[in-house]
Amino acid sequence: MTIKISGTGSALPEKILTNKDLEQMVETSDAWISERTGIKERHIAKGSFAYGRSHEAPQSRRGLPQAELEGREESVASLSAEACRRALADAGRTAEEVDLILLATCSPEMLLPCSACQVQSAIGAKNAVAFDINAACSGFLFALQTAHAYIVSGMYRNALIIGAEVLSKIVDWEDRGTCVLFGDGAGAVFVEASEDDHTGILSMTAGSDGSRGGVLYCRERSVDYADIFEDQGIHICMNGGEVYKFAVRQVPDCIEKALAKIDLAPGDIDQFVLHQANLRIIEAIAKRLHVGMEHFPYNVDRVGNTSSAAIPLLLDELNKSGRIQKGQLLVLSGFGAGLTYGACVVRW
Ligand code: ACO
Repeated sequence: MTIKISGTGSALPEKILTNKDLEQMVETSDAWISERTGIKERHIAKGSFAYGRSHEAPQSRRGLPQAELEGREESVASLSAEACRRALADAGRTAEEVDLILLATCSPEMLLPCSACQVQSAIGAKNAVAFDINAACSGFLFALQTAHAYIVSGMYRNALIIGAEVLSKIVDWEDRGTCVLFGDGAGAVFVEASEDDHTGILSMTAGSDGSRGGVLYCRERSVDYADIFEDQGIHICMNGGEVYKFAVRQVPDCIEKALAKIDLAPGDIDQFVLHQANLRIIEAIAKRLHVGMEHFPYNVDRVGNTSSAAIPLLLDELNKSGRIQKGQLLVLSGFGAGLTYGACVVRW
């Protein structure tokens, strides 16, 4: 038994921040960003610094009206809820039919309740169990693998898997080394048990290397920590060179392992739907796998690096534009902070 993806959806903030806009904010240029990363523009949620106004945190100590949890515009929770509504419509399912909601994010609005519970309430999935997963840019892939385990065990029949980020909240908008890379958005898929073992997830690999966590990190940002660390590290901090080396070595290796488990080779795959960190990383991975770039669809040029949201955003774009055909073989692969990495081989 396995699971298949039967619906996709996504939601992006309205505002687009171009490389030209960034030229007005930090010492950078469209040419530098395009050449080094392939990114041209990204979507930025309302309320972030780059949007031009800061968001007031809710102050109530006695309880928060439910509408405030669900209603905030362009938050992780509200973008996720919209992506879920679209994924359910695509799958022809109702929210009440959902058994499990897994939401991968590293930029939630709330420490508690988790974003998945906010989404459950917003969409009316009253029969679902809901919780978050944080594995940074591998989060969506790990959530998909978790849903696989739950559904194959018989515990749940189906799940909404979401990857969503409002990274603009945790990016240092004065650090040109990182602020040009990231964007906001949410993607979701509806998965359910597959009747035949040849459709859906065919093979999986995953790994973590906590000993290299320091190359990409962001501290939790409560007032106490901000005092202790004098504001150091409360935004995304990255050693770009180390992340690049990790990605171009580890990702081809974990993809090849996932393929070898089912006697496939990279040349058998129709499309590689990779985490959209940057175009240079995708090109280097394609080269190492000896596969042409025409098999590596990307949208990083238009949405930037959206961490957990990257894979489901691209999947939805491919699905809705008819670029994935039934029966095609896909590889999904995520990699990022942790360090974490993994791959799934999927027959659509
Ligand atoms: N605009 C102009 N100049 C810049 C910018 C910018 N936005 N950012 C850095 N520079 C400068 C640096 O200050 C440096 O100047 P110097 O030579 O005078 O010191 C110069 O450009 C070169 O800097 P490097 O960091 O060496 O640039 P590099 O060629 O390594 O490219 C990059 C940086 C694109 C981040 C690269 O290391 C990379 O692709 N790393 C992968 C990291 C990544 O994609 N992370 C995403 C998050 S993690 C994930 O999703 C897995």
